[in-house]
Amino acid sequence: MSKLSAAITAVGGYVPEFKMTNKMLEDLVDTNDEWITTRTGIKERRILKEKGAGTSYMAIKAAEDLIKKRGIDPSEIDLILVGTATPDTLVASTAAYVASEIGATNAFAFDLLAACSSFLFGMSTAASFIESGKYKKVLLIGADKMSSIIDYTDRTTCIIFGDGAGAALFEPNEEGLGLQDEYLRSDGSGRSYLSMNAGGSIMPATEETVKDKQHFIFQEGRTVFKFAVSNMADAAANIMERNDLTDKDVDWLVAHQANKRIIDATANRMGIEDEKVLMNIERYGNTTSATLPLVLSDYESQLKKGDNIVFAAFGGGFTWGSIYLKWAYNSK
Ligand SMILES: CC(C)(COP(=O)(O)OP(=O)(O)OC[C@H]1O[C@@H](n2cnc3c(N)ncnc32)[C@H](O)[C@@H]1OP(=O)(O)O)[C@@H](O)C(=O)NCCC(=O)NCCS
Repeated sequence: MSKLSAAITAVGGYVPEFKMTNKMLEDLVDTNDEWITTRTGIKERRILKEKGAGTSYMAIKAAEDLIKKRGIDPSEIDLILVGTATPDTLVASTAAYVASEIGATNAFAFDLLAACSSFLFGMSTAASFIESGKYKKVLLIGADKMSSIIDYTDRTTCIIFGDGAGAALFEPNEEGLGLQDEYLRSDGSGRSYLSMNAGGSIMPATEETVKDKQHFIFQEGRTVFKFAVSNMADAAANIMERNDLTDKDVDWLVAHQANKRIIDATANRMGIEDEKVLMNIERYGNTTSATLPLVLSDYESQLKKGDNIVFAAFGGGFTWGSIYLKWAYNSK
């Protein structure tokens, strides 16, 4: 019997209706459309406005989109992973709630937290469960309601992030398609440059932490930018070298949508043409755990069976890496 590999067999996505444009941000902070566009490539981002709705609301919709497209019964799903930096609540797993709501009655479910690398690391986790032969259907969702931890008076962060969710189903493949190789890394010395300081075990919520705006995301943009450019580009170049992939062999780059300049630098380092770089950052901004699956969902019709895709991501922690995957289906 040939070796079992883990292939993506369906994708789904969801973004909220409400569009927050660069123009709208001009009314909130001292910024302008031209600055945001040239420095980040972002034109607008989606914001979840529904009262009482959290990350699970979007995760459920992305999962339902996938389930409908793939035509499976949710009770067939063995495992649900939700990659997120903004779980519905701390302690109770968001994934467990998502599983119940979509009717995945035979699944176990847990959250995976690796900031903007959550989906990338989740791909490795999902694939391992499939490759081991233990499970047949693993649903990986990346979802974040970043607007819940953004200070809309801070121009250095509010222009970047948006809300959204994406999902991918992993199933066994005997044709050699699916995940081929991975290069994943982390460096905890970077945690002070991109974090939300309060609300965790070091600094539980108090009146002071709220007053001091410590429950919002903080980032030292320039430092994060520097690390993101070098680590994401190095990881993608490394995965190409290890697998003897030339620029001609790579069909697509699916990179974390944090900043267009970071994606361009990665593509440049890989030596690939602009047409192979899949981007939707101009419409959604940085949706953290949702960027990679939302790119797959948006460009699904262009992906062909056998295509070589290089994934790359960088996030808080720091966490980063690259994955080489062979696409397994032609969309209908
Ligand atoms: C945040 C980011 C877009 C800022 O771009 P930058 O080119 O690094 O800009 P800098 O931080 O050096 O700031 C340049 C100037 O623009 C100003 N500025 C910052 N935000 C601004 C905004 N929204 N509008 C207008 N001006 C702004 C700064 O105050 C600074 O002014 P100064 O030169 O007078 O001090 C960029 O650093 C970035 O993308 N970092 C990585 C973010 C990221 O990927 N995060 C998630 C990782 S997963």
